[in-house]
Amino acid sequence: SADALARAESLIALTPDFPKPGILFRDIAPMLADADALADVTAALAAPFDGEFDIVAGVEARGFLLAGTVAATARTGLLPIRKAGKTPHPTASVDYALEYDVATIEASGDLTGRRVLLVDDVLATGGTLAAALSLVERLGGTVAGVAVILELADLGGRARVPATHAVFTA
Ligand code: PRP
Ligand code: MG
Repeated sequence: SADALARAESLIALTPDFPKPGILFRDIAPMLADADALADVTAALAAPFDGEFDIVAGVEARGFLLAGTVAATARTGLLPIRKAGKTPHPTASVDYALEYDVATIEASGDLTGRRVLLVDDVLATGGTLAAALSLVERLGGTVAGVAVILELADLGGRARVPATHAVFTA
């Protein structure tokens, strides 16, 4: 319900000036620690895509938390998308830009014929999810949807990942 989700949102902890001055850090850990909030947010992530996906992909590290709960709840499989160097035989690899750096994500396996729900905690600049989207496509999968707990609207990530479903927007 809307009340349950409002309660879940209130459990996201805000810390000004972390990890750097000027950044308002939003910590989902207290929300994950609450049994009802975890279940309600998990349901809200997947609800628009009910019956439309057969595997859930999440990006290391915080995306793993949600990909796991969504996949088990929907009774689908789970694809971990890992940061560089952790996958012995990646079948696809995508480079993407960070604020002052570049990063690489990788995965192994074949997603031919699979409908993939991509989940992460936060949509900020959209770099991570845009890279994950192209990784899923390079593995042969079809992206059935993209879902995040929180969209930081000012950072404009929606321009790069337009169809994203955000449970909360800040
Ligand atoms: C954070 C967050 C998202 C991403 C969003 O991950 O978990 O994955 O940034 O930012 P973007 O939209 O600008 O790409 P981060 O790479 O900091 O690491 P973590 O998940 O391992 O904590
Ligand atoms: Mg992340």
